[in-house]
Amino acid sequence: MDGNGRWAQRRGLPRIMGHRQGVLALKPVVKECARLGIEVLTVYAFSTENWTRPKPEVEALMGLLCEFLARETRELQAEGVSIRVIGDVAGLPLSAQAALAEAVAQTRDGSRLILNLALNYGARNELVRAVNRWLQDQPPGVRPVLTEAVLSRYLDTAGLPDPDLLIRSSGEERLSNFLLWQIAYTEIYVTKTLWPDFNPEELRQAIAEYQRRQRRFGGIG
Ligand code: FPP
Repeated sequence: MDGNGRWAQRRGLPRIMGHRQGVLALKPVVKECARLGIEVLTVYAFSTENWTRPKPEVEALMGLLCEFLARETRELQAEGVSIRVIGDVAGLPLSAQAALAEAVAQTRDGSRLILNLALNYGARNELVRAVNRWLQDQPPGVRPVLTEAVLSRYLDTAGLPDPDLLIRSSGEERLSNFLLWQIAYTEIYVTKTLWPDFNPEELRQAIAEYQRRQRRFGGIG
């Protein structure tokens, strides 16, 4: 959800106003995904690197997350959305952890769309945590061999399909430590639109572009 800061700066507003607008842009996109029959939407909300931002901005982002959950969870639940989290949740403020645990529990039975919030998420961090968890599960005295399938089961995204489409807003052409393992064959769509201006129409355009791609997965199609 990139471009919140620039959206605000272009209007002479403080960056946090861009984040506020960015949160408002999220719900219509979530609802459109549910309407279109998309099964999983993962949004990159806070990276392991975002802690380097000024403290007031970090605190404001955590506050916005809690506000969003308090305001929207009931409606999302009614829409059949199941909220989940990927990332190193234990590193988030306790207030955010509590709000997330409640939202996840409240929406557990949602079967239309999984809304996966990537929070304190970094793909390298996820991979290292996964390997360490796997090692802890190994009996002592053996030299275990890790396979792709087993590693996938230890990732935060265990049980979820690899993404078909990655949308990067604000024109940046980089992955920024997002789902590096899972997006090996994901189609990438970059739009110059700043996240607060992203909307269901743009989502449909991205999907239409995706549908024109030929996916070969390393084969010859
Ligand atoms: C990227 O814009 C956006 C973020 C780092 C934060 C997005 C997170 C929220 C809005 C918090 C709420 C989360 C949820 C799930 C409701 P940027 O600041 O990097 O923009 P810039 O590149 O234009 O500076």
